[in-house]
Formats: sequence, C-alpha cells, structure tokens
Amino acid sequence: MLLAYDSLTGNVRRLAQELAGTLGAEVVDVRSHLPASEYLLLTYTFGTGQVPDSTRRFLERHGHLLRGVVSSGSYHWGQNFARAADVIAQTYRVPVVAKVNKGGTAADRARVLAWLGEQH
Ligand SMILES: Cc1cc2nc3c(=O)[nH]c(=O)nc-3n(C[C@H](O)[C@H](O)[C@H](O)COP(=O)(O)O)c2cc1C
Repeated sequence: MLLAYDSLTGNVRRLAQELAGTLGAEVVDVRSHLPASEYLLLTYTFGTGQVPDSTRRFLERHGHLLRGVVSSGSYHWGQNFARAADVIAQTYRVPVVAKVNKGGTAADRARVLAWLGEQH
C-alpha cells in the first residue's frame, strides 16, 4: 500500500521513509504528490489536538482512497496526544493504525508494518 505523509519538522517524514524502506513501498509527501491508489496516511497533530491544514486539504480531495491513519504527536499534550488520528478516523471511517510519540519506536513501526501486512 502507498504511504502518504505530512510532516512539518521531520518526525513523520523519517517514520514514513523508514517504513517504506522496510516494505519496499512507495512513499509520497501530501504537499506535493497526488495518490493514485489506496494509501495509509501518516500525519502529525497541530494546534491543540488538530489536524494540520495541509492534511485536511489533502483529505478533502483524496479522502476516498484513505484506508488507515497514523498520527505522531507528543506525550506533552496529554489528552490531545496525537488526536489528529482520532479526528481523521472518525471523519473518514478508517482505523487508527497507531499514535506515536515524535518519530515513534521500534514497537510502533512493527505495529504499522503488521497492519500493512494484513492489507491486500
Ligand atoms: C504548535 C504545535 C502544536 C502541537 N500540538 C500538538 C497536539 O495538540 N497534540 C500532540 O500530540 N502533539 C502536538 N504537537 C507535537 C507534534 O505533533 C509532534 O512534534 C510531531 O512529531 C511533529 O511531527 P513532524 O516532525 O513530522 O512535523 C504540536 C507541535 C507544535 C509545534
């Protein structure tokens, strides 16, 4: 499955690129590429538990191909930790595959890879 990511300071970009490298999957930046097939979205949480505008705009156009969502965040944000994943999952009716602190851990990457492995 295609990996589409949005990243401001690089945590999500590094996570998406690591996953894509392990899988041999295609990875695209939502700011510059259009998805031509079903994708897993990896994004971050901004504002106070919000979906970044760049991600929101991308989903408005390409939400029909979205199959799952991962959000990065920071534990520092408490109840709003990685909340963008919940907002997107509810709006587009897709699973929250993972919520990760910053760039995520090896366990987070294993979880995402396991989910991707279950997809056809
Ligand atoms: C202005 C600002 C607001 C943020 N708000 C949240 C938030 O509400 N919840 C959260 O979990 N993380 C929040 N974060 C943390 C980022 O989501 C986190 O650092 C993430 O790893 C950034 O991903 P990136 O490096 O790919 O841009 C915020 C960061 C900034 C700079």
